[in-house]
Amino acid sequence: MRRIKIFDTTLRDGEQSPGCSMDLNEKATMARQLDRLGVDIIEAGFAIASPMDFKSVQTIAASLSEDTHCVVASLARATRGDIDAAWEAVKEAKNPRIHVFIATSDVHMQYKLRMTREQVLQNITDMVSYAKEKCADIEFSAEDASRSEPAFLAQCYSNAVAAGATTINVPDTVGYSTPQEMGDLITYLRENVKDIGNVDISVHCHNDLGMGVANSLACVRAGATQVECTINGIGERAGNSSLEEIVMALRTRRDFYDADTGIDTRQIYRASKLLSNIIGVPISPTKPIVGANAFAHEAGIHQHGVIANTQTYEIMNPMDIGIPRSTLVLGKHSGKHALRERLESMGYELSDTELEEVFVRFKNLADKKKNITSADIEALVLHHSRAESAPSMCSLVSHVINTGKDMPKIAYIKMKKGDQELSEVVTGPGPLDASFKAINRMLDVEAHLADFSLNAVTAGEDSIGEAVVKISDGQGRTFTGTGISTDILEASIQAYINGINKMFEAEE
Ligand code: KIV
Ligand code: ZN
Repeated sequence: MRRIKIFDTTLRDGEQSPGCSMDLNEKATMARQLDRLGVDIIEAGFAIASPMDFKSVQTIAASLSEDTHCVVASLARATRGDIDAAWEAVKEAKNPRIHVFIATSDVHMQYKLRMTREQVLQNITDMVSYAKEKCADIEFSAEDASRSEPAFLAQCYSNAVAAGATTINVPDTVGYSTPQEMGDLITYLRENVKDIGNVDISVHCHNDLGMGVANSLACVRAGATQVECTINGIGERAGNSSLEEIVMALRTRRDFYDADTGIDTRQIYRASKLLSNIIGVPISPTKPIVGANAFAHEAGIHQHGVIANTQTYEIMNPMDIGIPRSTLVLGKHSGKHALRERLESMGYELSDTELEEVFVRFKNLADKKKNITSADIEALVLHHSRAESAPSMCSLVSHVINTGKDMPKIAYIKMKKGDQELSEVVTGPGPLDASFKAINRMLDVEAHLADFSLNAVTAGEDSIGEAVVKISDGQGRTFTGTGISTDILEASIQAYINGINKMFEAEE
C-alpha cells in the first residue's frame, strides 16, 4: 500500500481567503490540532506577506511539540527576499521546509511576471539553488501548472529537481482541470521530468468547478505521493481540496486506490469544528464527512436499514472520524468519569486540571439545561480551550436588557477593562444594537458590526446559543468574536467583547 503525504495549507492558502483570517493565537491553536491530526506538512503561512504572517510562521515552527513528525513550511516567491524571510521564519522548526513558487503558464508569465520562458527557467535554477543552501527540504511549485505548456512545464520541474528540490508540486491554481487531465498530466511528468523518481510529486487542486477532490484523487491514482489540502476545504475563491474528503476517500476506498495516509482520522471532526469556530464560518449541513447531516438518516426506509445493519446506508463509521455516536445524554447527576469518557470518544484527551475546569462549566450548564448532549460538551470544550489563549483585556460583568414590541430597547451593560469597572445605558432600535453601542461608548471605540450569526448548538428550548460576530475597525480590518450561553443575548454580547479584545490586541 502506498503512503500518501498530507500537506495541510489551511493556515496559508486557507487563511488567505476572505472571512477566514486568524490571529496568532488562533493559528498556533490550529497548528497544534493539525499536529495531533497527524498531517505530514503544515504550511504555516507566507512569511514575507506581513510582520504578522512572519511571526505566526515563526511561532508555529518553534512551538510544536518536541516529538512532532510534522514538517513546517513557509511559502516564498522565487526571490531572494522571500526565501530569506521564509528561512528566518521556519529555521527553528524540527523539520523546516521552504516552499518556492513561480508561475509557468503563458498567461501568467506574460501578464503577471512579464518574464520570458528562458528567464523563468533560469530563475527556477537560481532560486531553488539559493533556497537549498539554507534548507535541505525544498518544495518547488509551478503556479498554474495545469494551464502551462507540458514540455516547458517538464523542463521547469527538471531544473528544480537538478537544483535540489525534494518535492515538486503541480497546482491546478484556477480549478480548471478535469480528473482525467490532471491524472494524465502526472503521468506525463513522471515520464518527462529528469530524476522525478527521487522526489515527491505533490498536487494542489482548487475547487472552482467543484472538482478539487476528484482531481487530487486522480493524481494519486496516477502516482502523486503528496496531496495539498485544507480543513473544511477553505481557500482562495471556491476553496482548496478538503482534507477530510481526501483522507476518508483514500481510507474508505483503499481497495481502489491502494493508498492511505498517516492521519489519525478520529481527530478530523475536532479539527473541522475548531476551525469553523475560530473563523466563524459554519459547516454546511450537507458537507461530506463533517456536515451535520453526513450521518443523519431521515427517511424511514433508511432508518430501518441502519437500525438493522449500519452498513446498509453507511459507508464509514462516524466514530472513525471522531463524531460521537452515543445518544446517551449527560445531566446534573453525571460525574467526571462519564464526562471524561464522552470527551475521549470525541478525540479530546484532557489533563486532570483541564477536565476539572470543563467539569465546573459542565455543572453550571447542567443547572440551566436538563439534558446535555455531545454537541453541548463539544461547545463547552471548544470555547474553554479558546478562551484560555484569547486576549481578555475586557470582560462582561453583568447586563440588563429591556425589550418589547413598539418600544425602544434599553441595554444596561457593566464591564471591566483591565481593573477599571465601566457601565453604560443606551437605547436603540434593537437589543443587540443598544448593547453593542453601549460597549463602544464605554470603551470609546469605533467598531462596526459587519456580520452576525446565531446558531443553536442542539435542538430544544434550553439549547446553548453560539453567537459569531464580525466587527470591522473602519480601517479595513475585521475581527471575529464568538460566545456561547443558554441566554442568546449574553452569547451575543460575549461574542462582541471577544471581537473587541482581538481588535485591541491587533492595535497593540
Ligand atoms: O494555487 C496555487 O497555485 C498556490 C501555489 C502558491 C502553490 O497556492
Ligand atoms: Zn492555492
